[in-house]
Amino acid sequence: MKMNPWTLSVLLLLAGPLGADPDWYVEYPDSFCVVEGSTATIPCSFTHPAGRRVERVFWCTNQVFCQISTPNVYDSSIVRADSRFLYLGDLIRNCTLKIIKTEKRDTATYRFRFETNGGGFTGQKGVRVNVTDGEDVKVRSSVTDHVVKEGGQVTLTCTSACSFHQLDVHWYRNGHNLSETGPALHLSGLTNDDTGNYTCSLDSSGQNTSGPWSLLVGEYEGFRWSVHLVVAVVKGVVLAVLFLLHAGAVFAKWCTNKTKHI
Ligand SMILES: *[C@@H]1O[C@H](CO)[C@@H](O)[C@H](O)[C@H]1NC(C)=O
Ligand SMILES: *[C@@H]1O[C@H](CO)[C@@H](O)[C@H](O)[C@H]1NC(C)=O
Ligand SMILES: *[C@@H]1O[C@H](CO)[C@@H](O)[C@H](O)[C@H]1NC(C)=O
Repeated sequence: MKMNPWTLSVLLLLAGPLGADPDWYVEYPDSFCVVEGSTATIPCSFTHPAGRRVERVFWCTNQVFCQISTPNVYDSSIVRADSRFLYLGDLIRNCTLKIIKTEKRDTATYRFRFETNGGGFTGQKGVRVNVTDGEDVKVRSSVTDHVVKEGGQVTLTCTSACSFHQLDVHWYRNGHNLSETGPALHLSGLTNDDTGNYTCSLDSSGQNTSGPWSLLVGEYEGFRWSVHLVVAVVKGVVLAVLFLLHAGAVFAKWCTNKTKHI
């Protein structure tokens, strides 16, 4: 059958979102942000008509359809031991893709394709993956003050240009790995042992680590004031000593002058 362009565009329109076939479908987020060097897990699910068996799955980049002939980032029929692209999905409905140690050049639109024993389908919308540099990984605190009283609590969060609730976050105190993982570190019942510099990193290798957040746990509530008081007293004593020395010198000079005149 020969179609004129007008008929063709009407058919294409019908095949658009309204006419999307509920039997053949791939669902993923529109875009996904990840900090360079960290691990990304891109959620994905797919559906196909009942009774068909999925035989082969692909993830490709920057192609509207994943071509079987061109190399893809993932192809279930090819075993690549050293690949940074891991398929966490299955051959039923889960097509989750994990990218380990993301690099700047991983920035692309990723699409998923599956082949069944009765036809194949590509999720054409794709998911735009943006890899941003890790410069802005930061520790933020629930309290503005770095001095927290003993027994108190503080929540530290690891933030970056991307919201990365799906990622591995590692926490360190004075450079030592803490057992807690996840974007928030909740510290309660604070003791002196919690005093230190806290950093977070977006993967276990410790690359892309934030700057330090220093926490000082005070012994009692008046701790901070006593610090201020000690500083004030020391300043006062120093000033008084300087004043006395100066006064003494002036007096000595005055005495010397007086002696000369006599
Ligand atoms: C983050 O880690 C990657 C390698 O994993 C590195 O190339 C990049 O320079 C790091 N960025 C910063 C700001 O440290
Ligand atoms: C798909 O698989 C991933 C990894 O195993 C899992 O975390 C996720 O919950 C699964 N998604 C669904 C919709 O089952
Ligand atoms: C924490 O960092 C500050 C300044 O960055 C440094 O003076 C201090 O010694 C550090 N504390 C520890 C326990 O490493």
